[in-house]
Amino acid sequence: MGRKQKNKSKNSVELLAHNFPRMSVTEQYRLIRTNILYSAVDKEIKSIMITSPEQGEGKSTTATNLAIVLAQQGKKVLLVDTDLRKPSLHLVFNISNQIGLTSALRKEVYLDEAITKTYIPHLDVLTSGPIPLNPSELLNSNSMKVLMKEMYTDYHFIVFDTPPALSVTDAQVLANQCDGVVLVISSRKTLKNAALEAKELLEKAQAQLLGVVLNRIERKRGSRKYHV
Ligand SMILES: Nc1ncnc2c1ncn2[C@@H]1O[C@H](COP(=O)(O)OP(=O)(O)OP(=O)(O)O)[C@@H](O)[C@H]1O
Ligand SMILES: [Mg+2]
Repeated sequence: MGRKQKNKSKNSVELLAHNFPRMSVTEQYRLIRTNILYSAVDKEIKSIMITSPEQGEGKSTTATNLAIVLAQQGKKVLLVDTDLRKPSLHLVFNISNQIGLTSALRKEVYLDEAITKTYIPHLDVLTSGPIPLNPSELLNSNSMKVLMKEMYTDYHFIVFDTPPALSVTDAQVLANQCDGVVLVISSRKTLKNAALEAKELLEKAQAQLLGVVLNRIERKRGSRKYHV
């Protein structure tokens, strides 16, 4: 393992499933975990990609908390920042982003040197690394396929955080290579057409859509900040 995480999160994405294991929102992430694990009848699900139609709908929050509840089962989990345009997982876990996925893709370092062990048991993170000029090309490269094979060997589950599905092709490229995709829809932000369009794009990329997470549901009574 290349690096170790030093401090806790500085980012607005919250590690709810770790900090508040009994909160109802954490229970919702566990439910998503169960649904994902039992949705696949024919094929074992090892790699899960999280995307949403547009910006700020809760992709990174969902990816992070889903990775945490998967790790809480005692399985080795790798959370990967494949949002190579606006990465955020290094901020969520307060890790340097000087080395990461792009460094391994360019063969500047070995995969395990680019991965950071977090303070959450069984959870490792691969930050994006320096932002490249050609994100889609890198994600579609043979080098990415080789790295993914290595990840499959070393981890039980790999969770990919991605850019919005409607703005760039990166999520489609990756969807094709993952066992399943979870689409996050924000009840406050996502328009119905955008949700349908994203679903169509992912289906065209031959993704296996495991489910849709309705994020930020407003509840009038007994409302807490976070709902999924
Ligand atoms: N269920 C929720 N309840 C309240 N706030 C939330 C919820 N989900 C996400 N947020 C907040 O919304 C903001 C955007 O969330 P997040 O970064 O997860 O979205 P994103 O889709 O990854 O954004 P981007 O497209 O910029 O990568 C964050 O500040 C996060 O804390
Ligand atoms: Mg994000």
